[in-house]
Amino acid sequence: MRVLTGIKPSGSPHVGNLVGAIRPALGLADQPGVEALFFVADYHALTLVHDRAELGRLGREVAATWVACGLDLAKVIFYRQSDVPELFELAWVLACFTSKGWMNKAHAYKARVAAAREAGAAEDEIDAGIDMGLYEYPVLMSADILALDSDVVPVGPDQLQHIEIARDIAERVNHTYGDLLRVPAARVDQVLVPGTDGRKMSKSYGNTLPLFGDPKELRKAVMRIVTDSTPPEAAKDPDSALVFQIHRHFLSAAEADALAARYRAGIGWGDAKKLLADRLEEVLAEPRRRYAELMASPGELDRLLADGARRARAIATPVLARVRQGIGISG
Ligand code: ADP
Ligand code: TRP
Repeated sequence: MRVLTGIKPSGSPHVGNLVGAIRPALGLADQPGVEALFFVADYHALTLVHDRAELGRLGREVAATWVACGLDLAKVIFYRQSDVPELFELAWVLACFTSKGWMNKAHAYKARVAAAREAGAAEDEIDAGIDMGLYEYPVLMSADILALDSDVVPVGPDQLQHIEIARDIAERVNHTYGDLLRVPAARVDQVLVPGTDGRKMSKSYGNTLPLFGDPKELRKAVMRIVTDSTPPEAAKDPDSALVFQIHRHFLSAAEADALAARYRAGIGWGDAKKLLADRLEEVLAEPRRRYAELMASPGELDRLLADGARRARAIATPVLARVRQGIGISG
């Protein structure tokens, strides 16, 4: 079973990304019979980031994060999207089988149209500020998936629509030419880590626990986690305590039970937060060291990614040859 997922480089990684995306993907890659491909979706970030230095830095940050969090480079094929030119060739072929109407319904595009309307744009100017990169994002994402003959694509719930589009496009191609493309299935992991204010932890809300910044900042962020005003000795309900709801992701089942019992017996919020901060420090110590090392030696990171790109292209090249032959383009 070939499992593939893309990681959009967009901002400093946080505890929510680790628990909700990185860990489940690494867990899946570890299962017997799974061939995993993970890639840094750097060309996707170009729809947002037009600063040269920033685009490069974000790509390196996210690549270093995954390697530092334990990605096994001997097992997983880990690469940069921009290093696999076959994806962009396939994207054109797919565009020729993609209804413009499907793209009109894509969430990201619809959100931008709604925002333009809200801002008072005239109907015939509604698309003026929306570039084709954003509009066609689901086509490139489909190429990412289909060029590597993926079976399963693990994503967050917000990406499900894109996988549906990839399936629709693949089916339309297959309907025209016979079975040219492998039709993938989505897999949604539902873990959701709350942020310091109780909403979903997200860089857009400024409520994150950052993975690799200054450890003092992480401790300060933990101290900001919202609590109620019950006195230290009063019993606390772990199920409704934000501190616990974050902490439990870093404990075994037995450890979580033991900590829950301490909450019920009465624990001061300061102590509960200190336990969480200590735990995070312990869990992140080694990844933090490895992250700093990788960020300090971009050459090493580039070599790892170039090796991944070679392995990814070894899969994508025959797929593209099959597609070219199937549609009647020689070569
Ligand atoms: P953000 O919300 O900070 O912008 P992204 O949208 O870039 O994060 O998410 C990257 C990955 O991390 C996605 O797979 C997403 O599902 C996962 N993720 C982000 N925030 C959380 C969270 N609070 N809990 C669980 N998973 C999360
Ligand atoms: N669009 C995804 C996101 O924003 C990232 C991504 C790009 C992706 N290409 C992909 C995910 C292919 C899965 C498969 O998170």
